[in-house]
Amino acid sequence: MTEKVTRRTFIKRTLGSLLAIAGTGTGGYYYAREIEPRMLDITRHNIKSADLPAGFNGIKIVQFSDTHIGFQYTMDQLEKLISKINQLQPDLIFFTGDLLDDARHFQEENKMITMLNQLNAPLGKFAVYGNHDHGGYGTDVYKQIIEKSGFTLLLNTAANVELLDGSSLWIAGIDDAMLGKPDLAAAMAKVPKNSFTILLSHAPDKADEAARHPIQLQLSGHSHGGQIQIPFYGPWVTPPFAEKYVEGFYEIGDDKPLMLYVNRGLGTTRLPFRFLSQPELALFTLQ
Ligand SMILES: [Fe+2]
Repeated sequence: MTEKVTRRTFIKRTLGSLLAIAGTGTGGYYYAREIEPRMLDITRHNIKSADLPAGFNGIKIVQFSDTHIGFQYTMDQLEKLISKINQLQPDLIFFTGDLLDDARHFQEENKMITMLNQLNAPLGKFAVYGNHDHGGYGTDVYKQIIEKSGFTLLLNTAANVELLDGSSLWIAGIDDAMLGKPDLAAAMAKVPKNSFTILLSHAPDKADEAARHPIQLQLSGHSHGGQIQIPFYGPWVTPPFAEKYVEGFYEIGDDKPLMLYVNRGLGTTRLPFRFLSQPELALFTLQ
């Protein structure tokens, strides 16, 4: 995995420098504003774990994150994304927060509910809060949209997914670290020992704490991969709680390490630009 990441990073950085040289000035501005934010990258990963119950071998999970609808990412883009997700035929769908950029001023709730209801996943759809989903009445707006769209909102709690053969796994979810009250102990309270557990946390940096719990995989967003990456340097800026873990896979802890995946998300916030940090839709196959 390390070699792959290194090679990928190298290619990305090299491509970055070429683009930087070729595209300085207005070209670079146009690329980061109009081109890259629309270049969806569907990433595919196998999650291998000896702890996985045999019945879940081959189960497909789609994770999408950080759409920030209302800033730069549009409802039309969301509609196209929904059909792309359904084409991947996932068994489970996870949303890891920041659905709306400013939930208090969003006015297309019913349209959004109709759209998100079209997402199909026979084993269920699960979501957690992001920082942008909180604040003012935003907390309730997000809860309403997500629950009326057939998602289970995991607010410091966990849900059991059981197959017909009786095997099961657990999905735990915590509140956002910046503006919510994340409580990992509460989220894990009803998870039986020796279960296979996936944690959804908007904030990736909660992984250090998660590694002290019996969790095999954590899926996060929030970082936007930095949104703008500087060749040979890395992300220009990342928000609090996404300072340590910014993009891709990490292993945390020694004995039975926690696997963390940080999704770059789909939309943008604060600045409507992406550079060397393409919007991402992640597909995981459990093995
Ligand atoms: Fe975000």
